[in-house]
Amino acid sequence: MNEQLVDPFGRCITYVRMSVTDRCDFRCVYCMDEVMTFLPREEVLSLEEITLIARAFTEMGVNKLRLTGGEPLVRKDVISLFNGIGSLPGLDDFCLTTNGSQLVRFAADLKAAGVTRINISLDSLNDALFKELTRTGRLEQVLEGVNAACDAGFDKIKLNAVILKGRNDHEILDLVHFIRDKGLDISFIEEMPLGSISEHDRAQTYCSSDEVRSIIDEKYPLASSSETTGGPSRYWSMLDSPSRVGFISPHSHNFCGDCNRVRVTVEGRLLLCLGNENSVDLKAVVRRYPGDVERLKTSIREAIMHKPKEHHFTSDGDVQIVRFMNTTGG
Ligand code: GTP
Ligand code: 5AD
Ligand code: SF4
Repeated sequence: MNEQLVDPFGRCITYVRMSVTDRCDFRCVYCMDEVMTFLPREEVLSLEEITLIARAFTEMGVNKLRLTGGEPLVRKDVISLFNGIGSLPGLDDFCLTTNGSQLVRFAADLKAAGVTRINISLDSLNDALFKELTRTGRLEQVLEGVNAACDAGFDKIKLNAVILKGRNDHEILDLVHFIRDKGLDISFIEEMPLGSISEHDRAQTYCSSDEVRSIIDEKYPLASSSETTGGPSRYWSMLDSPSRVGFISPHSHNFCGDCNRVRVTVEGRLLLCLGNENSVDLKAVVRRYPGDVERLKTSIREAIMHKPKEHHFTSDGDVQIVRFMNTTGG
């Protein structure tokens, strides 16, 4: 019988999210400050180290792995990382979360590397607002990226939209029209309090998933669905379209009870929960014992015994977690 990672609350860990880089070509207002200092290169896991950690997890029953960032596709030689991880046995779902800016260049390579699903962040379909929210992003480039992913043959492409009251909440239905037209899915995300961001008052912009859902439900009645991607999104279907609408609601509908995932930060810290600072330093293990997958597995097994029961985020804007989302892996 193959090994399974089970935490003290009986939750089986089958999903790992790994951050490939803290760098990004965008500066989304809820994620980063306009001017950011990124980590020095020696602090960041090498592509070989990331692949070894991924291998250790897949040998312990993890069958879903997602690469995130920052923006994963801005890292040099990143396709070699995708090729390495894509060839690991035991991965049923090899996913990417991206801002879409580099997909025109890379979509076909990602498909060839064995990536099964792509989630693309898109918070606005309006040029000016997109620019305001991402600061350095260009909407057209991302829309071309979405098309490139469709053309490369990915199905079940999902958009992620963080809804901020007073900023992009008037675009909820536009985003739903867009995914229906293109045959995509979408998840609406409640903003989480990671990092202290200047000029952004989270208490003012909090928008609950229930508010978003009722806006959509008025136009397109939603039926709750038991389908799952194994992530935190809870999905709803629409009567007249195959597109699904998901909600990621860390504040209003806590999903910690059936958590199946852990994260590895860009510095090789194994984070047992997004909303908790406890971590185990896997980088120290890979650098002390290069290439030794068994050592890594021992550290991971021990760490899982300390996975906390739940996060303690609040929606009132109080910063709970000092880490920024881009180092954590969004
Ligand atoms: P699917 O595999 O398509 O379900 O994707 P996913 O929702 O697991 O991943 P994605 O990278 O698209 O993440 C969407 C949002 O969910 C991001 O804002 C993540 O930070 C958030 N998220 C993912 N896992 C967790 C978690 O364990 N806790 C919390 N609070 N948020 C999470
Ligand atoms: N709260 C919620 N979602 C966030 N993301 C980035 N920062 C935050 C935050 N503070 C989202 C991005 C992307 C996903 C990986 O995480 O918009 O869609
Ligand atoms: Fe970059 Fe994603 Fe953060 Fe936006 S949310 S700045 S795209 S890492």
